[in-house]
Amino acid sequence: MYKIIIQKSENLRGAVEVGGSKNAVLPLMAATLLTEEPCIISGVPNLKDVDVMCRLLGSFGAVVDVDQAAAQIRVDASNIVSSVAPPELVKAMRASIVSMGPLLARTGKAGIPLPGGCAIGDRPIDLHIKGFIALGADVEMVGDENDDGFVTACAARMRGAEMYLDFASVGATENIMMAAALAEGTTIIENPAQEPEIVDLANFLNKMGARIRGAGTDVIRIEGVSRLHGAEHSVIPDRIEAGTFMLAAAITRSSVLVGNMLPNHVMPITAKLRECGVLIKEEGTGLRVDATRGVLRATDIKTLPYPGFPTDIQPQFMAFLTTVPGPSNVIETVFENRFMHIEELNRMNAGIIEAGRRAILKGGAALRGADVRATDLRAGAALVLAGLAAEGTTEVTDVFHIDRGYDNLVGKLAELGARIKRVRRSES
Ligand code: UD1
Repeated sequence: MYKIIIQKSENLRGAVEVGGSKNAVLPLMAATLLTEEPCIISGVPNLKDVDVMCRLLGSFGAVVDVDQAAAQIRVDASNIVSSVAPPELVKAMRASIVSMGPLLARTGKAGIPLPGGCAIGDRPIDLHIKGFIALGADVEMVGDENDDGFVTACAARMRGAEMYLDFASVGATENIMMAAALAEGTTIIENPAQEPEIVDLANFLNKMGARIRGAGTDVIRIEGVSRLHGAEHSVIPDRIEAGTFMLAAAITRSSVLVGNMLPNHVMPITAKLRECGVLIKEEGTGLRVDATRGVLRATDIKTLPYPGFPTDIQPQFMAFLTTVPGPSNVIETVFENRFMHIEELNRMNAGIIEAGRRAILKGGAALRGADVRATDLRAGAALVLAGLAAEGTTEVTDVFHIDRGYDNLVGKLAELGARIKRVRRSES
């Protein structure tokens, strides 16, 4: 058990390199199940969620070789021995659900325990299931999400179909895209998710021989093929990690170069920081984020599917906004319960009022260090950022949430000059 100890840190400086995207690499790894030939994925971040996905692929019979030094993973899924996901892995990582589409397409069946609710909301999987049914699968559900539910899907060979997603779900779009890649005929997904991770997955699938057009737009068209082959792919940079470092610069009123990233993927974050008066310009392989000049001002944010403002950066942006003079509103529309960080931030004197899906910030808070708990991955990152701006010492516990999705967050912030360390809970 670890905790992170943070002291107020002014004047961060230098450059930080963003790693490969967590939300891109997980579906890419699942996609390797679609072929009996080996695949190589590079630029893989060192994350707990990646470990879980390695174990999940292994449980299906895939041979997974991780070369940590080279940040590379090789998956050989020539021999699939099981199509049922182990409950402990699905519990550890909800994104395990994206193994279902590829398993179904490759083996004709897939079984998964219902992932159930999690810290940030109920997160149902109805859209995934509707997609599989539209592709001709028989889907059976036993129990429900609160009662050891289990879902199985079977289809000898799926058939292409036209479908409309009621909500542009990232996971459902990925699952349907992977299943449809090996279906017979054409699939059209209307109102799919348009996140960069969807485009990255489509690019990988196309390298494997799939025929997918329109990923990243509001209609995806997939011409099914009878088999896919092995391929090599490099993961896109993590736009949420990039955004987190942009906010580290902003909350500490510093100037930092956030390198190895794709500026167009963080456009909504850049736009909102600029509205607050933070200077941002392209430099080298990334963005220079300069919050050292002028007086910052508050702005409102509202989370939306891409290209709207990302829900995964809402907690970190909220931490920043608490320090900016003037009132602001943060509205969460993607998840129904993604404000668990408010109580923790308020322990640090953040002055936030929660009103349903709206958080009302009075702004200009003098944050004070406190003992706080990471309630989920991005909430944990928000507390670390708040700790950088707070007087005194902040201790963040339940750090395992942060390890799920940040590769060496503490080390990278320390490199920038932050006064931050990670210690075992018995030490201090
Ligand atoms: C992915 C990301 C997560 C991000 C989220 C939204 C990964 C591994 N995770 O999660 O970091 O926060 O996108 O950008 O990529 N929904 C339904 N029915 C469904 C599926 C989803 O109602 O069948 C709802 C969810 O409850 C939620 C919303 O749709 O309210 C968004 O979920 P979705 O886009 O599916 O997120 P994930 O793929 O789980």
